[in-house]
Amino acid sequence: RTPRPSILTIFGASGDLTVRKLIPALYDLARDRRLPPEFTVVAFARRPYSHEQFREMMKEGVAKYSRSKLGNLWESFSQGIYYFQGDLESLESYRELAEFLSKLDSERGTLGNRAFYLATAPSYFKPIIENLGTAGLSGDPRNTRIVIEKPFGRDLDSAHSLNKVVQKVFQEKQVYRIDHYLGKETVQNILVFRFANSIFEPLWNNRYIDHVQITVAETVGVENRAPYYDEAGGAMRDMIQNHLMQLLALTAMEPPAAFEADTVRDEKVKVLRATQLGRNDRGLLAVRAQYRNGWIAGEPVSAYRDEPRVTPGIQTASYIAARFMINNWRWHGVPFYLRTGKRLAKRVSEIALQFRDVPHQLFPERSAGQVSPNLLVLRIQPDEGISLRFEAKRPVADIAMRSVNMDFHYGSTFEVASPEAYERLLLDCLLGDQTLFTRADEVEAAWRIVTPLIEQWENQASDDLQYYDAGSWGPSAASKLMDTGRRWRRL
Ligand code: BG6
Repeated sequence: RTPRPSILTIFGASGDLTVRKLIPALYDLARDRRLPPEFTVVAFARRPYSHEQFREMMKEGVAKYSRSKLGNLWESFSQGIYYFQGDLESLESYRELAEFLSKLDSERGTLGNRAFYLATAPSYFKPIIENLGTAGLSGDPRNTRIVIEKPFGRDLDSAHSLNKVVQKVFQEKQVYRIDHYLGKETVQNILVFRFANSIFEPLWNNRYIDHVQITVAETVGVENRAPYYDEAGGAMRDMIQNHLMQLLALTAMEPPAAFEADTVRDEKVKVLRATQLGRNDRGLLAVRAQYRNGWIAGEPVSAYRDEPRVTPGIQTASYIAARFMINNWRWHGVPFYLRTGKRLAKRVSEIALQFRDVPHQLFPERSAGQVSPNLLVLRIQPDEGISLRFEAKRPVADIAMRSVNMDFHYGSTFEVASPEAYERLLLDCLLGDQTLFTRADEVEAAWRIVTPLIEQWENQASDDLQYYDAGSWGPSAASKLMDTGRRWRRL
């Protein structure tokens, strides 16, 4: 399907997201003929650029970051990108924007269809939404949409207030809250794997699964984003509340009755409402840590506190591991261990479901070797795929065994590069499909889970921040988060 002709207005368009992700993704969609020729972008920001200057900046972004790389299409595509100089907090700018958009409608044939993309710092979300409302731009729910980047709030209360601000101006069916993890092919495949196959679902519960480990490990540091990251307080707001909670929800939710936006989101909300932080058998709930200097890929890298623009002395956690329990029939007693960190040894994201031990040990361990439990791993990135670990007899005279893997690799099976998450999400928004976007109650349900820990860390003069060497697997204290007899996977 191709979306109707429309104008996408990006607020905060001079920021990184537009040049690195949004314009390259739109260009790739255009290359794949997924966008109508009338499709138009209006880039709203404060600095004085001409249309041409802005297009040149975007051209570099496309050359560097797009999947299809720069080609002949750029000439016509870039003619549909306009720069609009405005002040996010001044109503006057929105009145002028409204006029500009109507003028473009008649020039480019975009028929009044509009999407507004909030790619600004979160402190601007409220004024932008209110100004859009007052300037009469919230429009007809059938042809006007709003896309809101993360972070959506800083805790349960602020997310709730922001939802109220949004709902005063827009109807929920116009609202697209982005979590770019939902746009990843492998993340969407969790649902296909679970609900388009009959052999796994009967095992997907506390009778067969011992515990689940969700890892999102990055090798990059905070880069140049310390002001945002320090303000957010690190990995809990940056990663756990959104990306990792979404992975948990998709792994743990009940089968929806249909693959439709609200049916899928109803199930996610249900499982998130049943989820809470839970202490392990040593009484531990979570571990947080910050990287020291170290080595990544043979290069020395600096400590978090020495990164550019970091607030001196701040206790921002670049690594968090936490333990969650889901209080329902399916998952009673099955811990979900989540961990994420920057400057870790390897870039790898995966969901690992470890099965229970066999009920009776038939083969004597002395002769057979240690029996490892079965393990199903959904590999999110970078080596996208799925593997199932089981025990096999080694071809020797005795009963000796070894763990082996049954493996599926996206790359070799499908032989095409997966589209970028933003391509999928932008296209869905233009098509009016909200399935891969978080609903108001869903974002609040995710905040409810993590808010107690955020408050505990912020309000107590706690000195529990640990440190780890850049290039390691995180603080040694993280191993204590595991209940007795379990350990983090070595990746
Ligand atoms: C973003 C976070 O949402 O996700 C970043 O703000 C993080 O800190 C990024 O690096 C990770 O995304 P990806 O797609 O590279 O796994």
